[in-house]
Amino acid sequence: MTDHRHFNAELAGRLPDRHFIDGAWEKSANGATFETIDPSDEEVLGEVSRGDASDVDAAVRAADRVQRGAWRRLAPAERGRLIAKLADALEADAERFALMETLDVGKPIKESLGDVRGVCATLRYNAGAADKMEGATIPLGFDTIDFTMLEPVGVTAHVVPWNYPLGMVARSVAPALAAGCTAVVKPAEQSPLTALAFAELCRKVGFPDGVVNVVTGYGEEAGAALVSHPLVRGITFTGSIETGRKIYANAAQGLKPAVLELGGKNPMIVFDDADLDRAAFDALDGAFGNSGQVCSSSSRFLVHRSLREAFVEKLATGAAKLTVGRGVDNCDLGPLVSEEQYGKVFSYLDQGRSSDARLRLGGGRPKDLGKGYFVAPTVFDGVDPGSRLAREEIFGPVAVVMDFETPEEALAIANGLGYGLVAGVYSQDISRALSFARDIEAGSVWINGWFIGGVQAPTGGIKDSGIGRERGLPGIRNYLSIKNIGIRL
Ligand code: NAI
Ligand code: MG
Repeated sequence: MTDHRHFNAELAGRLPDRHFIDGAWEKSANGATFETIDPSDEEVLGEVSRGDASDVDAAVRAADRVQRGAWRRLAPAERGRLIAKLADALEADAERFALMETLDVGKPIKESLGDVRGVCATLRYNAGAADKMEGATIPLGFDTIDFTMLEPVGVTAHVVPWNYPLGMVARSVAPALAAGCTAVVKPAEQSPLTALAFAELCRKVGFPDGVVNVVTGYGEEAGAALVSHPLVRGITFTGSIETGRKIYANAAQGLKPAVLELGGKNPMIVFDDADLDRAAFDALDGAFGNSGQVCSSSSRFLVHRSLREAFVEKLATGAAKLTVGRGVDNCDLGPLVSEEQYGKVFSYLDQGRSSDARLRLGGGRPKDLGKGYFVAPTVFDGVDPGSRLAREEIFGPVAVVMDFETPEEALAIANGLGYGLVAGVYSQDISRALSFARDIEAGSVWINGWFIGGVQAPTGGIKDSGIGRERGLPGIRNYLSIKNIGIRL
């Protein structure tokens, strides 16, 4: 096991603490900074620049200049080559990135390393697609030729959350670059470090200055200034519904397209003919991976009444074996990202304890841990489908189990919320599973597995879970505008 104190000190000497604008490290124009915290011991990890509208303006202008200049003239295959080089450079530097992520947000090193590998895959997919986004010819008639050109929309804004800080940057920046756009990223204030290191790596592998910029700071300051900047022509956001609404209102003022991914309350529906071992095993990862801070987590379990007790037993037994501790010690669950998130999750634990739900495991802090925002894996059984626990996104390691009798009842509960990101169905009856997949209101449906997907498969929500799709070729089309060209012969 790596000695994290050694790494910590080594990293501390060169933690990025400034914005990355136009290929250079820049202090905030007003000199302001804020602290980023290690959530596993609540200690300050470092000072980071607190950007506002003037820093954002500098970044957007730089991105606009190079987009209209050198970046626009670079052949798509050459853009792809640069993105592929970035993947190679990141792979070679994976351990440093993973450690930085772990220190900043608390997640276990093994998860951070997995995230970095996922980012490499994302980069490579988009690198390969850069010269394959083709327009169409349109049959208008004998004396006319009509065709479409796909053009980059221009400067794009990327407002990202803290649960997968690097992963969320790559998910939208890689396709934007593949499409020929330039990017200004506003990382979450809880987790600014890897985005900065990513931008620095872009410079190292040869991206022109200004193609990838990062302005750190708070949402209401840097984030709001970014999405409302007149030179920004496309917005991608992942985070809460509340902030998504603000950003969409902002986008409406500027008549800009926005892709919004706003989380979920994703039902895993386990039928009486399900492979119970598989469902319970997947539920462990689905509910407790990244300490439950995942938009696509299995955040409510709807289990047929005949299997509920056996399912809960398996889930609680498995969850009791999960270790909780500092990310650098590579436990199964790290701390939650922040004091705020810790408080939010505790308010749900309090609500669950004071309700009729049965607490089967956890329900508070692990006893052996002093400082840090740790929450033990928790299982609530017999939860009232009308309660907050069953209806709201908790974003913590809290499994919420309910039961049902008929498929109609399961469907009504599943579709009864505003959310519509992911749903999962466990059944050996393919016809039943596919009927459910058809009728469930969600952007993705997973059958007999959880977290099925990858950079190739589009993801996103319906209803309150958001607008638009990321990943896959649809993820690149977000950053392309169709120009139609007609020629009279
Ligand atoms: P948030 O949605 O407020 O923050 C996400 C990003 O938006 C951050 O970079 C933040 O600085 C920025 N932001 C905030 N206000 C903004 C504004 N007015 N204009 C532009 N940018 C702005 O989410 P927060 O407060 O960190 O977490 C609250 C809850 O949101 C979580 O408990 C969880 O339920 C949900 N969430 C969902 C995520 C997902 O993957 N869908 C990720 C993170 C949080
Ligand atoms: Mg932090």
